[in-house]
Amino acid sequence: MNAGCPVFSMRPYVLVNCAMSADGKLSTVERRQVKISGKNDFLRVDRIKAESDAIMVGIGTVLADNPSLTVKSDELKETRRAGGRDENPVRIVVDSSARIPPNADILHKGRGQRIIAVSARAPPEKVRELEFVADIIRAGEQEVDLGVLMERLHAKGIRTLMVEGGGTLIGSLFAEGLVDEFCTFVGNRVIGGRDAPTPADGAGFIAEEEFPRLTLTSAEPLDEGILLRWKVDRSS
Ligand SMILES: NC(=O)c1ccc[n+]([C@@H]2O[C@H](COP(=O)([O-])OP(=O)(O)OC[C@H]3O[C@@H](n4cnc5c(N)ncnc54)[C@H](OP(=O)(O)O)[C@@H]3O)[C@@H](O)[C@H]2O)c1
Repeated sequence: MNAGCPVFSMRPYVLVNCAMSADGKLSTVERRQVKISGKNDFLRVDRIKAESDAIMVGIGTVLADNPSLTVKSDELKETRRAGGRDENPVRIVVDSSARIPPNADILHKGRGQRIIAVSARAPPEKVRELEFVADIIRAGEQEVDLGVLMERLHAKGIRTLMVEGGGTLIGSLFAEGLVDEFCTFVGNRVIGGRDAPTPADGAGFIAEEEFPRLTLTSAEPLDEGILLRWKVDRSS
């Protein structure tokens, strides 16, 4: 793990954004999506999405929530078009074995490019089917090699990447030292449950020197909660 180390390879700037309950949960123990934030946070997230070159989620989030990840505001879509861009950022799913359902909203709703990142274990016939609706990036043997994926995305011209979850993907990105900024909206609900997803799931860090260190850049009340913005320290 190289969390906190300087990044030498060419990769996009990575902003991770999520909403969690007051007790630090992303959703319920049943992994059911729940409303955590309010209207102002929704507008903030839509704005970041519209400003990003690409937006990424893990396959766990696609299977649980079926998000389309489109820009919702007509005005923001128009601004993107006026700038010569697609109305939606490039939508990316990290999906080692190409489990994404062919009818997933992210593959069909809204205009714009899609990328499915798979590993060597993705069945070739499933990948061939997906090639009709998305570009495929192969990286890694078992799970997707996120470092290699980032380099490929950079080579495709992606300079700013928003990551919308879930906890397993975010945990891996931190472990690989691939996060630059971490924004969490903390809402006024307690969801509870030992096994409910949290913002950095996966194996976790054991040694204290491996813990990614953050610097708080702002904390502002928003809706009925608080928005925390952190930069990931690269100096330690
Ligand atoms: N509140 C929020 O802001 C928010 C946002 C998003 C999601 N969520 C919630 O989060 C939950 C889903 O999160 P999740 O943790 O189950 O799934 P996830 O992080 O969306 O996706 C994880 C999956 O991605 C695949 N993957 C491939 N390569 C990987 C790598 N190098 N590192 C990590 N993952 C890799 C793995 O599946 P394969 O092995 O099959 O490839 C892995 O199981 C849902 O309950 C959803 O509602 C909440």
